[in-house]
Amino acid sequence: MVESYWVKDLGLAEQGSRKVGMAETSMPVLRLLAKRYSDERPFDGFTVSACLHITKETAVLVKALREGGAKVSLCASNPLSTQDDVAAFLASDGFQVYGFRGMSRRDYYNAIRMCLSHGPDLTIDDGADLVATLHQAAAVDTEPLKHAVDRVVGGTEETTTGVNRLKAMEREKVLRYPIVAVNEALSKSLFDNPLGTGQSALDGVMRATNVLLAGKNVVVCGYGRVGSGIAERARGLGARVIVVEPD
Ligand SMILES: NC(=O)c1ccc[n+]([C@@H]2O[C@H](COP(=O)([O-])OP(=O)(O)OC[C@H]3O[C@@H](n4cnc5c(N)ncnc54)[C@H](O)[C@@H]3O)[C@@H](O)[C@H]2O)c1
Repeated sequence: MVESYWVKDLGLAEQGSRKVGMAETSMPVLRLLAKRYSDERPFDGFTVSACLHITKETAVLVKALREGGAKVSLCASNPLSTQDDVAAFLASDGFQVYGFRGMSRRDYYNAIRMCLSHGPDLTIDDGADLVATLHQAAAVDTEPLKHAVDRVVGGTEETTTGVNRLKAMEREKVLRYPIVAVNEALSKSLFDNPLGTGQSALDGVMRATNVLLAGKNVVVCGYGRVGSGIAERARGLGARVIVVEPD
């Protein structure tokens, strides 16, 4: 019997709940969808296993899926991005959630396996670790995960890296179910990559180094969706931007 959650400290739930409430106010589209789903119940009877950054925004997403009738299990797609208070909130709100900030590589994959043990009909992935684990289990595992992949009818993958991994699996004819390459939707790559990652990548550099960008030389390697967003933002902050791009 798998634990119904694996989080750092349930005592952080109230703080997490406030954060999720704050995120909800900036996510009007998902709020609208949640309202519609609560009438239409498109996911009634479906179990969704999601491997995503466990953040307040993901919490709004999984709540919307539940409004639509889904049973949701969630694990971390990165051992360093989990917001422990949000994970605690989700666990206390009845979600099967597995992840805490700073988990080891071994715990990270254990968490994915716990998430998958709920028997998904649909998967939501961010980097393809969940899908890879599911397929690997089918190849080498004994129960309970060995046949889990047979039940899955479809999934989504949102990252460039994950889509590349899945395309490689498809080429090798080992991918067992269809997956929507969300990263290739214009509504993702034209917005999330340049605007979201364009901001968060710079934000990470600034937090880690505490440097003032104005007057610095910034070299951006690759002027694609993400790189162009980073370059534009770095220039806006006063940096001298150099782009390296072979295309
Ligand atoms: N962490 C995140 O939130 C996040 C989000 C989106 C993308 N990414 C990552 O960012 C990277 C770029 O994603 P994207 O959506 O902008 O892809 P993209 O395909 O739009 O852009 C990649 C660019 O890099 C260029 N390039 C390829 N090889 C190069 C080389 N050797 N030197 C310099 N440039 C080179 C390509 O010509 C292309 O213009 C990927 O690795 C992706 O996984 C991360």
